[in-house]
Amino acid sequence: MLAHARRKLARELGGRLATTATVHGTRREGQRACVSSSSASRGKEIQRFKVYRWNPDSGEEPRYKTYDVDVGECGPMMLDVLFKIKDEQDQTLSFRRSCREGICGSCAMNINGKNGLACLTKVDRGQSGDQTIAPLPHMFVVRDLVVDMANFYAQYKSIEPFLKTKSDAPADGKERLQTKEDRAKLDGLYECILCACCSTSCPSYWWNSDKYLGPAVLLQAYRWIIDSRDEFTQERLDNVNDAFKLYRCHTIMNCSTVCPKGLNPALKIAKIKAMV
Ligand code: SF4
Ligand code: F3S
Ligand code: FES
Repeated sequence: MLAHARRKLARELGGRLATTATVHGTRREGQRACVSSSSASRGKEIQRFKVYRWNPDSGEEPRYKTYDVDVGECGPMMLDVLFKIKDEQDQTLSFRRSCREGICGSCAMNINGKNGLACLTKVDRGQSGDQTIAPLPHMFVVRDLVVDMANFYAQYKSIEPFLKTKSDAPADGKERLQTKEDRAKLDGLYECILCACCSTSCPSYWWNSDKYLGPAVLLQAYRWIIDSRDEFTQERLDNVNDAFKLYRCHTIMNCSTVCPKGLNPALKIAKIKAMV
């Protein structure tokens, strides 16, 4: 009786395993068939993209070059479109990217008139007109969509973006601790990925980027000013308390509108002004 039950179970399991394997294989074949038949049957979804192009070695003027892309055959984001253009139409197209997850900040550019991250900006597949992709505004262009970030990084360096202390480190060799409340003050600040979307959307920064620190760097300055473990708060405030470095912010608010991480640099600038 027991042997019979075992044989029955083995038969059932074997059958189930066989069924599973067959379904799995069938599903995968089905998926492939489905993809290819839909590609063959559906019409192409061509959208036109105008991409800023400039090669300093060519001697030619900057221009917008038009590319027709089948967005139905492409990933959903603007970065996917750029890759498709580079892979299939024009390998000379230059742009920065790394994480494609909205973390590194390197794919910041101006998309349809608004600064954003190409890897987080969805292609508007319903849009009938041309879509425009340009470098971050008012930045020196190195090539195509790649801009010179040297001034931006120098300004970031100038606010000394690291913990500075006067007291000795804890005797037990452990970390300098914070209360939960003090740690919470860093929310809305530490998430900044230094993409520069905010600074390059600020008209004040456009005209005075050599002297005005801009919203990104001021947000970072505030991040260290309110860090409970930092002991150079007054020096940090003195450093930014300047007619150009800080007070070129005229509360235009573009910065907070474009931040792809949902941060509010304008509010942090107001808080610095209140502290100084
Ligand atoms: Fe980018 Fe936002 Fe940071 Fe500005 S505040 S650099 S837009 S992540
Ligand atoms: Fe510019 Fe934002 Fe101030 S857009 S002027 S930094 S509020
Ligand atoms: Fe890293 Fe877009 S590729 S933020």
